[in-house]
Amino acid sequence: MIDVEHVSKVHKRGQLTVTALREIHCQIPAHTFTFILGPSGSGKSTLLYLLGGLDEPTSGVIRIDGKPVTGMSSPERDRFRREDVGFIFQSFNLLSNLTAVENVLVPYFPKGATVEHRRGAKALLERLGLGDRLDHRPGQLSGGEQQRVAIARALLKRPKLILADEPTGELDTENSLLILQDLRAACQEQGATVVVVTHEQEFVRPGDNLVRIRDGRVVETSVVAPAVGSA
Ligand SMILES: Nc1ncnc2c1ncn2[C@@H]1O[C@H](COP(=O)(O)OP(=O)(O)O)[C@@H](O)[C@H]1O
Ligand SMILES: [Mg+2]
Repeated sequence: MIDVEHVSKVHKRGQLTVTALREIHCQIPAHTFTFILGPSGSGKSTLLYLLGGLDEPTSGVIRIDGKPVTGMSSPERDRFRREDVGFIFQSFNLLSNLTAVENVLVPYFPKGATVEHRRGAKALLERLGLGDRLDHRPGQLSGGEQQRVAIARALLKRPKLILADEPTGELDTENSLLILQDLRAACQEQGATVVVVTHEQEFVRPGDNLVRIRDGRVVETSVVAPAVGSA
């Protein structure tokens, strides 16, 4: 369970301050699939970064399974980010000179990935339909394929929390649906808590959790009801 309590975030850029989140309050149950929905500039990315310990709130507390992420010491925070969180970005963030398999293993560099890790990376890429792309570099892959490599990279360590910031933002609808299917599978098969930022309503499905934000405020938290007529 993720508990967000009275969290505010003020970004400072030189003289300028921007209040991105205003005293927000929400809960995201463990092992569920959640969309953070809202228009551009509403504070979605800011919230996701706070959940993953990539940034600190100006005030308020975030707890994951009862443990505050806010106020962790910096070694604790490093360990949390390294072991418990898998982050997926809109722009894939792959290294262009490495193959698909090597990109999946990047979190284990420079100490070196084990044979076991390499086997796991290949198995994950195969499961994601990239079995014949293992030694391709990002420039030789489509956008959808690159994002699947990024997903495999996030999944390999079996994190309990998977955070994705507009992971389908650069993809067409068909590839977007495939990416979301993979993220839903991570939730169901690995028991991960998956939180996906989007400004697109069209990908929401029955059973998904929604946290809708607008102008830095949570305006709705809900579970999407089953479609009328479905069992
Ligand atoms: N590092 C930053 N410095 C200054 N302002 C920022 C920074 N990050 C985000 N903001 C501002 O905070 C608000 C929310 O941004 P963001 O969380 O990125 O929204 P979203 O992801 O919903 O588009 C915006 O007004 C944005 O310009
Ligand atoms: Mg954003």
